[in-house]
Amino acid sequence: MGNSGRIVDAGEDTVARAVECLTAGGLVALPTETVYGLAAVAANPDAVARIFAAKGRPSHNPLIVHVADAAMARRIGMLGEAGEALAAAFWPGPLTLVATWREDAGVAPAAAAGGLTVALRMPAAPLMRDIIARTGPLVAPSANRSGRVSATSAKAVAEELGDAVDLIVDGGPSPIGVELTVVDVTGAPRVLRPGAIGRAEIEAVVGPLADGAAAEGPLRSPGLLASHYAPRARLRLDVVAADVRAGEGWLAFGEADSAAAEEHTVRLSPSGNLDEAARSLYAGLRLLDRAGVGTIAVSPIPAEGIGIAIADRLRRAAAPRPEDSDPGGTDRTEAKETG
Ligand code: TXA
Ligand code: MG
Repeated sequence: MGNSGRIVDAGEDTVARAVECLTAGGLVALPTETVYGLAAVAANPDAVARIFAAKGRPSHNPLIVHVADAAMARRIGMLGEAGEALAAAFWPGPLTLVATWREDAGVAPAAAAGGLTVALRMPAAPLMRDIIARTGPLVAPSANRSGRVSATSAKAVAEELGDAVDLIVDGGPSPIGVELTVVDVTGAPRVLRPGAIGRAEIEAVVGPLADGAAAEGPLRSPGLLASHYAPRARLRLDVVAADVRAGEGWLAFGEADSAAAEEHTVRLSPSGNLDEAARSLYAGLRLLDRAGVGTIAVSPIPAEGIGIAIADRLRRAAAPRPEDSDPGGTDRTEAKETG
């Protein structure tokens, strides 16, 4: 609605426009290799506050700080030995490191949600790094309303955020399609959120990882909330083709016929390729929402490679929602994932 004027291609003067908007305190949606991010200057407390407002995000959920290079990351957080090794191995790329925050980092405290740690990422997209080199570090959560499906296209960003975003840079469909891997390096390294880079690849660099996402203490991760990445429709997981009901939508992996109407069927990857399935996941959920189905049956997803991240997002999308238990508010449901 009225957003098409704000969508610009990733062309010549795009960097200049985005820099101008960001330094004036604006919010700019930028393509990354994982999903679209909603960016603001990390040092500007008003701009950071606008991000929380635009997403409807609870203030206790910290944001990822995006940097142009490892030196910028080191000025903000203490990477430590494991963090340095992981940064050297995977940056730029789809890996976020949660590090101990330096007090003099010049990042608005709200970005870290009042915590002692800060999440750092160096995105692969040269466009975003060019922008950051001129604006300084950018906070950039996924460009969706809090708790909803992430955006993997400029159009999806406009759909999600409407007038709350000042400029949307169109970089085409997101090449990976699911959010990045988050690794906590403040102590023994552990994976907080599975993503494009698998556990085995990380262990090849830092050795065996501590046990995963059952984060105790003050550490909070929005991606670990029980209900997240959710479309409007309800999800039924691990449904084989024969058990799909008439009237349901079907998010299919691999090829088979089901009771779902063809217009309510999204094939994530007809050939059973998990990377392709990751790229089509969020667009598929959005499409089935638009088709108006009440329930989406989802094929079993093999738990290997990026399939682990896909299954993680689907499990959270299928989790009980705030409105299921507590029509009056959302706060109580922000409890950490238990299972
Ligand atoms: O691929 C992505 O991760 C995208 C792109 C735009 O970077 N960003 C994204 O941001 O999905 P968001 O805000 O939707 O999710 C932030 C994730 C959380 O799930 C959480 O695991 C982690 O980042 N996070 C941020 N700050 C943290 C902190 N201080 N401690 C622990 N986890 C943190
Ligand atoms: Mg998100």
